[in-house]
Amino acid sequence: MFLKDCWYVAAWSKDVSDGLLPVKIIGQPVVLYRLASGEAIALEDRCVHRLAPLSCGKREGDDLRCMYHGLRFAPDGRCVEIPGQDIIPPIARVYRYPVTEKGGWVWIWPGDPQLADAGLVPDVIGPGNPDWKIITSQIDYDAHADLVIDNLLDFSHLTYVHANSFAADKQWAEKRPKVERIERGLRVSRWLSTAPAMRPALTLYGQPVDTYQTYDFIAPGILTMQIAFCEPGSQKRSDDGPPVDGILRVNGNSQAVTPIDDHKTRYFFGLGSRSADTSDEQVNMIGKVGLAAFTEDRQMIEGQQQIMNISPGVRPMPTNADIAITHFHSIIRELAKQEAARMDGSGTTA
Ligand code: FES
Ligand SMILES: [Fe+2]
Repeated sequence: MFLKDCWYVAAWSKDVSDGLLPVKIIGQPVVLYRLASGEAIALEDRCVHRLAPLSCGKREGDDLRCMYHGLRFAPDGRCVEIPGQDIIPPIARVYRYPVTEKGGWVWIWPGDPQLADAGLVPDVIGPGNPDWKIITSQIDYDAHADLVIDNLLDFSHLTYVHANSFAADKQWAEKRPKVERIERGLRVSRWLSTAPAMRPALTLYGQPVDTYQTYDFIAPGILTMQIAFCEPGSQKRSDDGPPVDGILRVNGNSQAVTPIDDHKTRYFFGLGSRSADTSDEQVNMIGKVGLAAFTEDRQMIEGQQQIMNISPGVRPMPTNADIAITHFHSIIRELAKQEAARMDGSGTTA
């Protein structure tokens, strides 16, 4: 079961055009397109007639024509034409999802549309922000979204999974971060003492640094992170909080985990650095190394999923590195409870 009363990243804004883009989110088929006005819309990708995908149809102005037997739908989801039939029953409509755009992403809300507050979309670092240079990409995993989320809530894996890509120092595995509760999620922060920067291309060629990493992880699975590489000694001056001075460079990224269904997950990411700190060449390298790292994650997570599939009833044994994972799942359970109470009370569902 996935949360419904929340914003999911459906696609990169740049990928939603006047063509029809089919996506699946929490098992629901959705077709995305842009009206002549530029507004992005999301409709149920399932014709009311014989359930053909509307994404196999075609645009007629702002309307969508199902290319099976020709029913035509307006952007609000109403069927406005049934070839050869004068009367259009009121039930002849597909669901139109609430949509908003922010940080280079199109977000959709599969839950109660009355609750779809665009203010709940987290502040993410995305393409098009002049303060940041960001490289964007996405990967599909043959795995449940929880495994991708859990991977992002425990960066002790950097030392091992990413030994080749990030070449991360052992401290990542050994030093536990501070985990704080924030609205609908967690803030996870840590200092790593003076050490060679993770991989020179990601930071500063060959220079030893103190590193401060902080990220917010918000339901349903949105991560926004900054990593400050600082002069040695900066950690001491910060009193273990964020750096007060000595910052040499700040990398930033946003990542979104969107369940396609129970077995597949789409992982969107934009990686980069503050515009003031980076060149195009460096940001391209950050994108390249990031993609290599996430391919390493995918291999591990898909392998983990396969083992879990043949090990029903075998439970994971948490270690103290799993604290953020445990907290985050309890937040999701809380939100799911609120959602269930809302649905019991009103019977409303998307
Ligand atoms: S399935 Fe769409 S018109 Fe028949
Ligand atoms: Fe990873």
